[in-house]
Amino acid sequence: MSDLVTIKDKQFKPYISQQQISEAVKKIATSINNELKNDQPLFLVVLNGSFMFAADLLKEVSIPCEISFIKVASYHGTTSSGTVTELIGLSEDITGRTVIIVEDIVDTGITLEKLITVLKRKNVKQIKVATVLLKPDSYKKEFTIDYYGMKIPNDFVIGYGLDYDGLGRNLKEIYVLA
Ligand code: IMP
Repeated sequence: MSDLVTIKDKQFKPYISQQQISEAVKKIATSINNELKNDQPLFLVVLNGSFMFAADLLKEVSIPCEISFIKVASYHGTTSSGTVTELIGLSEDITGRTVIIVEDIVDTGITLEKLITVLKRKNVKQIKVATVLLKPDSYKKEFTIDYYGMKIPNDFVIGYGLDYDGLGRNLKEIYVLA
């Protein structure tokens, strides 16, 4: 593993190695291959953070599947009082499909909740969630996280797709605030 990484005002130290990430990703892929082989799932990769995980995961997925990339956009509607969530990039008809949400990290679960709420309205068959990292002390939502690589404490991490202010996504390993 390499040494400290400085991004803007912060220093990060090595936390999860490439080898550990690779094993975690393979474990997720094996579960998906075993459990969803008859479902031809559609992987919905949530950009930007999940690009690296998605590439590694899908290389290990050996069952028939489709892949699409989405972004979650939230804005305040002009007439309604609440926040409107929109999925950008979803062109497939997902009625009756098994959808696997591919996330980099689940922290509070707010992003996931928004996503699942929108997907449920589209009458999918089932929704599964796959994430590299899960922060269980922070996660307070009820949705099951079907596949996760590792549980971590409430520390800020970067690398393997995760960023600090847009930077650090390209790091091969995961780093934590030093
Ligand atoms: P949530 O909505 O609180 O679950 O957070 C989800 C999003 O917050 C993730 O997809 C990340 O973009 C970002 N996030 C949460 N924790 C971290 C972290 O430790 N490092 C970098 N980004 C994070």
